[in-house]
Amino acid sequence: MKALVLAGGTGTRLRPITHTSAKQLVPVANKPVLFYGLESIAAAGIEDVVVVVGDTADEIEAAVGDGHRFGLRVRYVRQDRPLGLAHAVLVARELLGDDDFVMYLGDNFVIGGITALVDDFRARRPDAQVMLTAVRNPSAFGVAELGPDGRIVRLEEKPSRPRSDLALVGVYLFTPAVHEAVRAISPSGRGELEITDAIQWLIDAGREVRSVEISGYWKDTGNVTDMLEVNRTVLESVTPQLDGDVDETSEIIGSVRIAKGARVRRSRIVGPVVIGDGTEVTDSYVGPFTSVAEDCRITGSELEYSIVLRGAALEGTGRMQASLIGRYARVTPSPRTPHVHRLVLGDHSTVELSS
Ligand code: DAU
Repeated sequence: MKALVLAGGTGTRLRPITHTSAKQLVPVANKPVLFYGLESIAAAGIEDVVVVVGDTADEIEAAVGDGHRFGLRVRYVRQDRPLGLAHAVLVARELLGDDDFVMYLGDNFVIGGITALVDDFRARRPDAQVMLTAVRNPSAFGVAELGPDGRIVRLEEKPSRPRSDLALVGVYLFTPAVHEAVRAISPSGRGELEITDAIQWLIDAGREVRSVEISGYWKDTGNVTDMLEVNRTVLESVTPQLDGDVDETSEIIGSVRIAKGARVRRSRIVGPVVIGDGTEVTDSYVGPFTSVAEDCRITGSELEYSIVLRGAALEGTGRMQASLIGRYARVTPSPRTPHVHRLVLGDHSTVELSS
């Protein structure tokens, strides 16, 4: 069995964290979301992985390499334009051969991994198996309508009037039957070859498409509230590891992981918290459910339930909560004018001021 991991797309969507990079590399608890997918593929006993890349190929390839550190053998296939998930299957056809495969969308996160789902597929071997999960906003997903016997009768991609709240999760299990389906379908209204249509084609052809409902699912949508929540969930199971340099006047409580090369001075850190390599925390408080990435400076500040990305600096900020601080962002008190706010904000930013 092989895995097909989709890490293509343009990477140009204007959202808080992805305007400069691939959305599959958005970090959750200081680790790119794509890595969790690769780890769960390895945990399910799959070694052979084909990664589909697009505009952000260099970044993805630099991060994943040949896959050996995940225990995987990774090969890449270039998709010149993001013409759809079923199109990605077409371009990977040769590398996939006639093996069964799990197709894993690189910006999806399945809490608890995919081992049970893969084992289940291996045992029953339907023509295809999809995962469904109840969501609040089904119109943003592929949506499944189930018949009275629980089988899928219809799948619709991003319907304006969804027939259920059951969204297709971005992890699909296929036998080679899918190759005929992706060749048979035509582009959708949005100009993409939809995997949803290919699965519908299999259903219409009388093939067996099984569905399994799961909970504990997240997808990168650029929604900060959801991102903080998935970060919190992952931090809940962080194993404490203090490799960094922590001085005697600092206090570390609960599950805290401090990378080698990080320095903590006169500070209090209450886990679960992860702190990346090269980061300095000085005269500060870092509270539960916070991830601070590499090379950050947190000085004279208080922070909890937040995500701070690489190279950001917080200085004398007072208490911050539920915040997402982008790469190399700086948060400092205004030096001269204490009762006014001076803001330099990027496009589509959201700032909540308490005053
Ligand atoms: O995440 C689950 C949803 O994924 C499903 O519910 C939908 O049925 C399915 O169509 C898909 O919807 P999205 O529109 O959210 O997919 P998106 O364009 O975000 O692409 C998903 C991943 O696949 C992402 O990591 C980029 C990559 N991709 C996407 C396209 C269109 C490619 O590698 N090549 C492509 O051509």
